[in-house]
Amino acid sequence: MDHARKNIMRISKLLYIIAKIVVIFTIFMIVFVTTCSVISIFVENAELREGVMKYLQSQGSLSNFGYFGLEISDDYMTSVIVGTSFHFVTNFVIMLYALVFTRILKKVSKGEQPFTKQNAKKLFIMSIVALLFIAMNPILSLALFLVGIFISNLFKYATYLNEKSQQTQHIQESMIISMAEVVENKSDQTGQHIRRVAEYSKVLAMQLGFTEEQADVIKMASMMHDIGKLLVPSAILEKPGKLTDEEYAEIKKHTTYGDKLLKDVEGEVLICARKIAYEHHERPDGKGYPRGLKKNSISIEGKIVAVADVYDALTSKRTYKDAWDSKQAYDEIVKNSGTQFDKSVVKAFVDAYDKIDEIREKFADAQPQVLAPTET
Ligand SMILES: [Fe+2]
Repeated sequence: MDHARKNIMRISKLLYIIAKIVVIFTIFMIVFVTTCSVISIFVENAELREGVMKYLQSQGSLSNFGYFGLEISDDYMTSVIVGTSFHFVTNFVIMLYALVFTRILKKVSKGEQPFTKQNAKKLFIMSIVALLFIAMNPILSLALFLVGIFISNLFKYATYLNEKSQQTQHIQESMIISMAEVVENKSDQTGQHIRRVAEYSKVLAMQLGFTEEQADVIKMASMMHDIGKLLVPSAILEKPGKLTDEEYAEIKKHTTYGDKLLKDVEGEVLICARKIAYEHHERPDGKGYPRGLKKNSISIEGKIVAVADVYDALTSKRTYKDAWDSKQAYDEIVKNSGTQFDKSVVKAFVDAYDKIDEIREKFADAQPQVLAPTET
């Protein structure tokens, strides 16, 4: 899918250049031919007049009716004014047509999606404008009109599908956030943990070269990394003291529980969420859990969330520990590059640390409020 999108972007870039050349060329032709025609009216130069007439006639021969202005009068001035006017209108419509496509293609070549109601409207207006010169060049005029109407309706339909897809995505996101909040409330991860992990994951994914759209999928999916904790008994999750080996083993099962909870899901975000839930405690050195996967057997999404989750756990206060200083947590992540964490993700973490630190401060857990003394 992503490959197809890159191809579309490349082709759009090429078409954008062609459409731009058409715009520049038609503007040049409008200015050049009009200027030559006007000069030839005032300057009685036989060669110039012959050149202008030949060019206008050659243009006229392309249409069914031709530039009949050339035929209606023996008077040079009348013929040239009518012929040049037709030339002007035809080229102006073609230029307008190419201009609208230029704008749309520019967006697509940058990876933006062009399917909006405004673009559909622009294409519709463009196709109506093409009808303006139906009397001069009916075949070209009708062809441009039909193509314009077809593409305009295609854009309308694509806009409708986009809106539907956005609605579905919005519902999916709301459900993910609600489920993440349930997990948050059940475990020790108070405050903004899930939001910060999601934001860190997006920054890391972007730093690793994912597109914004892909990074958003990882961001949403990361919110469910601990979804399996829903199946871990609350008595263990909420236990304030040290855990027994059995209790710790039960907590570790949240990864396999997450995998099972999400096993029948469909859709990009939830499929990614299942991968993350299962693999966010794996380590490149094989000492992670639940499967002891090594290096490339762990998905990049799992590796990203592993760094985001641990960095946030270290810099957050828990019932059993104080929050680490951000520099200490940073050093801990770097120290474990290649063993606990994937090297490329740690590099991305180091390179994007300013953004990560900003997120940590922006989404910090609420501090207990100090009440102002009341006057008695
Ligand atoms: Fe976890």
